[in-house]
Amino acid sequence: METVDYIQRDINSIWHPYTQMKDLEKFPPVLIEKAIGAKLFASDGKFYYDTISSWWCNIHGHCHPGVMGAIREQTEKLDHVIFAGFTHAPAIELAEELLKIAPRNLKKVFFSDNGSTAVEVAMKMSFQYWKNIGLPEKENFLSLDSAYHGDTIGAMSVSGNSIFNNIFKPLLFGSFKAKTPYCYRCPFSKKYGECSFECLKDAENIIKLHFRKIAAVILEPMVLCAGGMIVYPKEYLKGIEELCRKYDIHLIADEVATGFARTGKMFAVNHAEVNPDFMCLSKGITSGSLSLGATLTTPKIFNAFYDDYEKMKTFYHGHTHTANPIACSSAVKSIKLFSEENTLKKIERINRKMSVFLSNVKKMISIVGDTREIGLIGAIELVKNRNTKEHFLFEERIGFKIYNMGLEKNILLRPLGNVIYFFLPACLEDDELDYIFSASYDILSAIEIRNK
Ligand SMILES: Cc1ncc(COP(=O)(O)O)c(C=O)c1O
Repeated sequence: METVDYIQRDINSIWHPYTQMKDLEKFPPVLIEKAIGAKLFASDGKFYYDTISSWWCNIHGHCHPGVMGAIREQTEKLDHVIFAGFTHAPAIELAEELLKIAPRNLKKVFFSDNGSTAVEVAMKMSFQYWKNIGLPEKENFLSLDSAYHGDTIGAMSVSGNSIFNNIFKPLLFGSFKAKTPYCYRCPFSKKYGECSFECLKDAENIIKLHFRKIAAVILEPMVLCAGGMIVYPKEYLKGIEELCRKYDIHLIADEVATGFARTGKMFAVNHAEVNPDFMCLSKGITSGSLSLGATLTTPKIFNAFYDDYEKMKTFYHGHTHTANPIACSSAVKSIKLFSEENTLKKIERINRKMSVFLSNVKKMISIVGDTREIGLIGAIELVKNRNTKEHFLFEERIGFKIYNMGLEKNILLRPLGNVIYFFLPACLEDDELDYIFSASYDILSAIEIRNK
């Protein structure tokens, strides 16, 4: 009775993100009461495996005692304080911890409070850097045409056209877009291994023509997440870094989703030994427990802002909850857990099991067009026809069907269009993975039969 009451109260008063609220008439939201490890427990007694780490942010498992303990301890000392003119130990410790694990060229941390703000900070810093050093015409950005960098106006402007931002196009500022290195649907009709990285040449052609006007290239290293979990070759990432160096353009690595070992290395840039000028962090920074953003940058960029007050080089940007002390404390503990719990080893084990599952579905299920994986991320692109790679239609809402079938089988799957994916937390045990993969296999088989 209480559950029904809460759900009705939700529907009466709340507007949920990315949700057609009319759908809730038929599919009311699931009321979650508690969570432990990879399990979400609902008020009706059911539980769900959180295979997407609750919007890609949980790392060590829900309500990890270490992270919860750090939060509890901090709540006894300091809840929040203005971060201009004042500072606090949790932020200082966190900045030091971040700089220990980040690429070594990064030496300064600017805090904010979510992923989109971490991106906006990097873009605005890059933009102002060129003004501060006397190259004011460098005020444009280059990004990939399937990128997703957040929902604020600046972040949407450098994202690819999609269902997320199409309607807002008139509000966005223009930016250069390079073709995505999407090997399964190569925009140049080439095959990875036989190609000459035409995608990189596409980016270079734009850069060659416009580098005097370009402040920065922004990209999600190794995998475009919301774009469809498109894992791309590390040579592309390295190639973009080389182009940035050659043409004097900043490289912004948006590690909001990929950071904190989601791709099997602490940061996705580590796969290609890339040293970006900016690295944007959020989501996993607190193991998903509290909202926090951070933008890391180099001394060269920092020094271009460092001057006498009246020179007007200050970076005028901030958010109320910049470096919230409770969030910083949870982040410090979350980073320490990587060594205390040997998290990277756990991720290797999970990845091995996921690889076996993915190659199995590719072999056995005819609607699986492509599978992709890196670290804790695994993706299955569904197609109506393997030979033609024909998509399921938008109106078929295949993702929504899979989501509902997942809930029936105790798993939270939240596909991106025709792409079913896993964005797993590192706490999953072998028996839990076995269950998740076998239930997912059954769902895919059922969809395959319906398609016949
Ligand atoms: C790569 C990337 N950048 C930025 C963001 C925006 O983060 P937030 O939702 O915290 O604003 C996301 C969110 O999914 C993301 O995947």
